Amino acid sequence: MPRQKKPARSQVLFARLGEMTSPPPPAAGDPEDEVLNLVSVAERVIRTAPDSSRTLRMKKFRAQLLHAWLVSNFQPCRAADIGGGKGLLGHLLIQSGWQVTVIDPVSQPLPEKYKDIRTGQRVKVSAAHAVPRIAQPFEVDMAQGFDLLIGMHAHGCNAKIIDAAALYGCGFVIFPCCVIDEPFFPRLGVHWLECLAAYALERGLEVFPFRLNFKGQNIGLCHVGRNLHPLLWEGHATPPLPSRAGAGGQVGE
Ligand SMILES: C[S@@+](CC[C@H](N)C(=O)[O-])C[C@H]1O[C@@H](n2cnc3c(N)ncnc32)[C@H](O)[C@@H]1O
Repeated sequence: MPRQKKPARSQVLFARLGEMTSPPPPAAGDPEDEVLNLVSVAERVIRTAPDSSRTLRMKKFRAQLLHAWLVSNFQPCRAADIGGGKGLLGHLLIQSGWQVTVIDPVSQPLPEKYKDIRTGQRVKVSAAHAVPRIAQPFEVDMAQGFDLLIGMHAHGCNAKIIDAAALYGCGFVIFPCCVIDEPFFPRLGVHWLECLAAYALERGLEVFPFRLNFKGQNIGLCHVGRNLHPLLWEGHATPPLPSRAGAGGQVGE
């Protein structure tokens, strides 16, 4: 059989340069909408949370999806939803027996209704419901007394959340989107998620990545912390890999 000729080094180099310099797909504009094809972060495989929808849900369902993931992985605890916006995630967690405070400088009322993604029903939020709020920008010392710090697309808070976890032993779940207003930037060629995972690991905080089933930046980093009690992990440091592969792998509602 004739031996295949190896491509010249310059050809390989040229092809690589072509790959590196070819324009990226059209930018989504908002970093929250960025769809990432990562399969691992900081050499840890990204676990995909199972969801009843076989296609990616719309971004507006991210609070419901994170609520479902949190309550299926941890016992109720004292959580701060940093950059929590309208507070829907906090409301859902409170309904599940958690204690939640939203820390967000912009005061916003709870939405009047939301969709329960398990039943498909619209649920009205009575005006009597409120989630405790601290209407200030998040600072590290505010984390005292919380078991879990949550940052879903929380603006400019990711490094501070990791600092707070290192100082007070809190767990955290962060879904970082943009790097604006953070105290450092990733090196060229390093993704912001990788940079934050490395920052946490350097501070001695074990983290694992997981992916929720919604369009946009849907990869989270979780650190369990001192007071978070995992459910059903049977001695493992991270939740078991879901048996149904491929959940959340396709686009479309
Ligand atoms: C993209 S929204 C995310 C809201 C919510 N977590 C969600 O997923 O729908 C970012 C939120 O971060 C809040 N924010 C901005 N700067 C902040 C800061 N320094 N500390 C806490 N929250 C902040 C904004 O007011 C806004 O509600």
